[in-house]
Amino acid sequence: MKLYLDTANVAEIRELAWLVDGVTTNPSLVAREGRPFRDVLREICAIVKGPVSAEVISLDRDGMVREARELAAVAANVVVKIPMTEAGMQAVQVLSRDGITTNVTLVFSANQALLAAKCGATYVSPFVGRIDDAGGDGMAVVNEILTVYGQYEFRTEVIVASVRHPGHVLQAALLGAPIATVPYDVLKKLFGHPLTDAGIARFLRDWQQVPSA
Ligand code: G3P
Repeated sequence: MKLYLDTANVAEIRELAWLVDGVTTNPSLVAREGRPFRDVLREICAIVKGPVSAEVISLDRDGMVREARELAAVAANVVVKIPMTEAGMQAVQVLSRDGITTNVTLVFSANQALLAAKCGATYVSPFVGRIDDAGGDGMAVVNEILTVYGQYEFRTEVIVASVRHPGHVLQAALLGAPIATVPYDVLKKLFGHPLTDAGIARFLRDWQQVPSA
């Protein structure tokens, strides 16, 4: 299973670059940084060798295709994030034929994921946390998408996104999702367990009883 870091914060990315397989950003995450988008993207792509998702802002097909080509020119590992709309899927079809990698974002149903795959999306991002927030079951949607993709051997990869807690990561792993994109604070929590801390404290305390040579 691949783990991506869901952030546009360069300090967070530098700290965890040794571990993560890629990075995803979105306009809200970029806005938090208070820096020009292209500068941030160029810096992230220099730190991380794996795929780095960067989102278009246009809503019409030609605007999205134009923006996507500009973003793809920033670095070889840029993946262009395209919103799940009819115009977005037309753009994905064009970009896919041009060999530009895409991540279809704001996916909330298996039918949307089906269309994204049919249009040639490289990745699809179901937003599990936002589905849960709306009273649905985000991981059930992921399960449906994985089942549909398996039936037809689509090559589109599922990125479990809008991850809110370690339980989401575990559920994604149990379902065999190929990728989860995880915020910094959630990723840091994956290292820890209270019994690990207690165990280290006990070992260090007992070590004091070992006679020195
Ligand atoms: O990558 C998309 C994801 O960041 C959205 O997360 O927490 O804003 O729903 P959230």
